[in-house]
Amino acid sequence: MSNDLHVAIVGATGAVGIEMLRTLEKRNFQVSKLSLLASQRSAGKTLSFKGDSITVQELKKDSFHGVDIALFSAGGGTSKEYAEFAVEAGAIVVDNSSAFRSDEDVPLVVPEINAVDVATHKGIIANPNCSTIVTVMALYPLHLAFGVKRIFASTYQAVSGSGAMGIVELERQIDEIVNGKNTSKKVYPHQIAFNVLPHVDEFLESGYTKEEMKMENEARKIMGLHDFKASVTCVRVPVFRAHSIAVSAEFEKDVSVLEAKKAIESASGIDLIDDVSNCKYPLPIDVAGLDNCKAGRIRKDCALSNGLSFWVVGDQLLKGAALNAVQIAEEVAKL
Ligand code: A2P
Repeated sequence: MSNDLHVAIVGATGAVGIEMLRTLEKRNFQVSKLSLLASQRSAGKTLSFKGDSITVQELKKDSFHGVDIALFSAGGGTSKEYAEFAVEAGAIVVDNSSAFRSDEDVPLVVPEINAVDVATHKGIIANPNCSTIVTVMALYPLHLAFGVKRIFASTYQAVSGSGAMGIVELERQIDEIVNGKNTSKKVYPHQIAFNVLPHVDEFLESGYTKEEMKMENEARKIMGLHDFKASVTCVRVPVFRAHSIAVSAEFEKDVSVLEAKKAIESASGIDLIDDVSNCKYPLPIDVAGLDNCKAGRIRKDCALSNGLSFWVVGDQLLKGAALNAVQIAEEVAKL
């Protein structure tokens, strides 16, 4: 691809879209033209990019003329409806929704793990689920060291994972409670302020949620491990930003905590924070706004043979979404 690329962001006004804009800016992505697209509600608003003010346009079928790379983050319905028009216009789509992740001819990419898969694209490349990305950032280096078989995990997912409205809901409910009012709810089925909800995404007949099964299905595809198993409980917590995941993983080979720590330390995109005697372990309030994920609390699992338990935290708007998408776009630009 040429060095000067016309990039479009679909969902530019959303929680992830704004981070895509900032990430393109921060990483100095070679943008010759930037098209910011959103719903009709946002048409005419302006957003700044590298000192220029860019007007948001309403997303339409013909919005992709001349676009080289289209970053989609406006929900699965919008991706299903508009990605084909972007591809027809000659753009390569990097899609943050779950619309195409399980399609055989759509690579599902975390660049630190399977950047090579980008070259197999047929017009669409999918960005994985946010909790899955954060988990595999820690799990994959451990897999390379010991060979992972299965995991048991619980997520602690921030409200910004539900988009800008999730943030508004938590802020409003805190304000209502502090002022002695009844809480109102629009985004979640229960009060999220001062509560935790064992419910992220829709329930399946199995009793798991769609979000919970993404961990097994998507991690298999990213790591190329077709027998990998994951039993996950996804929990929404009253945290504004950054997802945390508690993982117990079982491996083929004998595990060593020292080797596990070395594996994490030498992997890119993830840092080790593991000094429990000084109360040092990753926290969402510290990781919010950072590109790298952070892992800690690494210990031998006492209930599994060849098992390790660990805690991993990542900013789901960055590595879990916008940053990973821009990293994919960087791989596309190299093709
Ligand atoms: P808008 O701000 O105009 O509603 P979030 O995940 O934070 O809720 O953001 C969703 C993003 O997707 C926003 O930029 C939103 O635009 C955009 N969006 C939602 N529905 C559509 C649609 N039907 N067409 C275009 N953009 C959409």
